[in-house]
Amino acid sequence: MNDFSSPLARTAVIIVAAGSGTRLAAGAPKAFVALDGRTILEHALDGVFAAAPAQVVLVVPAGREAEAQAIVRAAQTTFTGRESPPSEARKDNPRPASDEKSPAPAVGVVVGGDTRQRSVAAGLAALADGIDTVLVHDAARALTPPAQFVAVATAVRPGTGVIPALPVVDTLKRVHGEDVVAPVDRAELAAAQTPQGFPRAELVAAYAQAAEQGVDYTDDAALFAAARGAVHHVLGSEEAFKITTPHDLERARMILSAASVPVLRQAQQPVAGPVFLRVGIGTDVHAFASDGTLRLAGLDWPGEPALEGHSDGDAVAHAIVDALLGAAGLGDIGQHFGTAHPEYAGAHGDVFLARTAEILAEAGFAIGNVSVQFQGNRPRFSARRHAAEQALSAALGGVPVAVSATTTDGLGFPGRGEGIAVTAVALVYPADPR
Ligand code: CTP
Ligand code: MG
Repeated sequence: MNDFSSPLARTAVIIVAAGSGTRLAAGAPKAFVALDGRTILEHALDGVFAAAPAQVVLVVPAGREAEAQAIVRAAQTTFTGRESPPSEARKDNPRPASDEKSPAPAVGVVVGGDTRQRSVAAGLAALADGIDTVLVHDAARALTPPAQFVAVATAVRPGTGVIPALPVVDTLKRVHGEDVVAPVDRAELAAAQTPQGFPRAELVAAYAQAAEQGVDYTDDAALFAAARGAVHHVLGSEEAFKITTPHDLERARMILSAASVPVLRQAQQPVAGPVFLRVGIGTDVHAFASDGTLRLAGLDWPGEPALEGHSDGDAVAHAIVDALLGAAGLGDIGQHFGTAHPEYAGAHGDVFLARTAEILAEAGFAIGNVSVQFQGNRPRFSARRHAAEQALSAALGGVPVAVSATTTDGLGFPGRGEGIAVTAVALVYPADPR
């Protein structure tokens, strides 16, 4: 327990990270899946640490305790500023600047159960004396802003729990089988997030009651309400979405890589004095597959035959990745995204591009431009050239990308319609040439 000057001075955060991540299917329990060169769990810890609770209890799958401890140490090192303090990366950090070097909160690691409810119960059993408010948080909501923890914790009152929630934006229907049976008034609905905050003693009592009755609830608010606790809501945030599917993981990667866009934009300003330009080339060849939908140049091509490949087979994106990495002397696509990185299996080329731009930025390179040419009989690019350029450029954080296409006069494997070949060149330069 530490930092009693914080608004969360008597608050503990229980981070539940003991799920298996079945829907993400990334080959590891979800919290341990890579995200932006770190793990989902480490990102979640960043947000929690920045909110400065008195205690953190981390609930992990059996057998993962040591790995979790190592991730905690890495997050603590980042937090205490020996690397980059998370407060610099998060505009909504509630901590004052002078507080940036304070020690990271103490973290206890405990083993979870086979349901989320059992995992939370394991966390509750590890609370320290002196804690009067408990926030229960999903590690899977890895990008939750620190301010959301503070907003929830400060709204908790005796007898009342608090959840962050967002208004529902979609038009909702009640369905029965294939039939749409009724409209649903979305004004009455909200989408619940975490952290969910409760008075400690009342939450512990509600958990004991649920265990006794053998009922399994989907979230802590439902369990608390079943024990006749009141639950209020405060406004949640888009960033607090739960990483559930591969698409969600991609969204998280995009958000994190967008955070580095200002660096790239700055670096693209014309610079005075000598500039050391570096050029790189990348090629990729893929055969057409027997089924599936083609994904090429960051676009879906319904009706066109898909390409074989470890990921989505987007040969245009892959050739650009190699050109960029080659220009910067940072290896190649196999090294950064190959089979040794199962988290990228099935990932879209856009994810590779965004991560590549980030790898270059981390190494101090800005991207000048990219030109890519596709050789093949199909798809016909002319009508969608602009859309392809925009998609590729967006994935790289705004870098100019030119796309051209050609046939090979019936010669070679592209001419015989067996597959396509792509060549890309990229120009990079040191972001700070001085
Ligand atoms: N969780 C947990 N213990 C469990 C199940 C879930 O600690 N037995 C945690 C997860 O680690 C996650 C949060 O509860 O941070 C929300 O659960 P969910 O998103 O469903 O994660 P998983 O159960 O891991 O994913 P899936 O349902 O796809 O297997
Ligand atoms: Mg689950």
